[in-house]
Amino acid sequence: MKILVTGGAGFIGSHTCVELLEGGYEISVLDNLSNSSEKSLERIKEITGKDFKFYKADLLDYDAVDKVFSSEKFDSVIHFAGLKAVGESVEKPLTYYHNNITGTLNLLSIMRKHGVYNIVFSSSATVYGSPKSLPIKEDFPLSTTNPYGSTKLMIEGILQDLYTADNNFSITILRYFNPIGAHKSGKIGEDPKGIPNNLMPYIQQVAIGKLPQLSVFGDKYPTKDGTGVRDYIHVVDLSLAHVKAVEKKSGHPGVYIYNVGTGNGYSVLEMVKAFEKASGREVKYKICPNRPGDIAACYADASKAEKELGWTAKLDLEDMCRDGWNWQVNNPNGYAD
Ligand code: NAD
Ligand code: UD1
Repeated sequence: MKILVTGGAGFIGSHTCVELLEGGYEISVLDNLSNSSEKSLERIKEITGKDFKFYKADLLDYDAVDKVFSSEKFDSVIHFAGLKAVGESVEKPLTYYHNNITGTLNLLSIMRKHGVYNIVFSSSATVYGSPKSLPIKEDFPLSTTNPYGSTKLMIEGILQDLYTADNNFSITILRYFNPIGAHKSGKIGEDPKGIPNNLMPYIQQVAIGKLPQLSVFGDKYPTKDGTGVRDYIHVVDLSLAHVKAVEKKSGHPGVYIYNVGTGNGYSVLEMVKAFEKASGREVKYKICPNRPGDIAACYADASKAEKELGWTAKLDLEDMCRDGWNWQVNNPNGYAD
């Protein structure tokens, strides 16, 4: 089976490429490298010993993407490509709507033109807004608080409408919780540009001495220790959910939606402790005001993915911290090293 991975040079895409190649799938990658490095593709080849085609192309360039589909016949597409920074999306909403939505519309119409009907789409737990109860199930009400989240929710709606109009499509929507960690080889990992927004890359950079201390955003939430609680999932477990989705859902028309999380919630302070233990380094922090738009707690009920895809997260917090630290130590400046 041949799979086109859009955004395959990025954090989650690169890890999924490894798992696909190791699972015996043939892949090609399409990425415009706007938030990634071609080095990640070399590293995927080093880890797996396997080769694949890379198309440096922008999903906004209809003709370039059409050409890719004319040159190869794909069975399925895993669609990671998109912009993902929440704060930036508030500053540049039009850029986000254009890139994420127009890019996806181009991709879908080209897939239809070429008779490629299987797609797995990267959605996010952000589509649940501020959940009324926990753990979060797939049928909870949906809402968003920023343009990034809105692009995810809109694309979910577009995919539903597409299936209604064309029952050939098999569409799997994966709603990720908080992916962290890295491949155990330490060759691929998350490489944020500038100062990280997300907790784990920030903690990693404090531990290695690139940043002085972590700002803990709020300690008065109604949680176990007052700090925010999230469902952190190892990026390799998340990648394997994509392999399962392709395996189980390709050729079975419908729209399938799954939470991809571990079901465990950890607080910011628990994450700091776990990371200190894994790295043997101190992570200095200070308590700061809440970050606007943050929710107190968020974790998944991932039983639907277990029942229908046969997928469940296998790696624990220790694995996530150890592998994230291994990547950081081996690549203190990410792929720029
Ligand atoms: P990433 O930025 O590392 O990867 C996205 C890739 O898409 C990058 O390599 C970028 O160059 C590429 N890209 C962006 N716009 C493109 C375009 N128009 N044409 C071609 N390529 C384009 O991000 P990631 O963390 O690997 O996330 C992958 C997907 O998962 C994204 O859609 C993201 O919104 C979603 N997601 C991520 C998280 C997370 O915490 N990382 C959580 C939920 C959902
Ligand atoms: C954020 C995004 C979310 C997106 C997700 C994955 C916001 C408001 N939400 O989620 O839409 O889907 O990333 O990309 O940006 N924290 C600190 N100090 C920091 C960073 C984070 O205390 O420097 C805390 C946060 O308050 C939160 C937890 O750590 O409680 C996790 O934060 P983060 O990694 O940014 O993920 P989310 O907020 O869950």
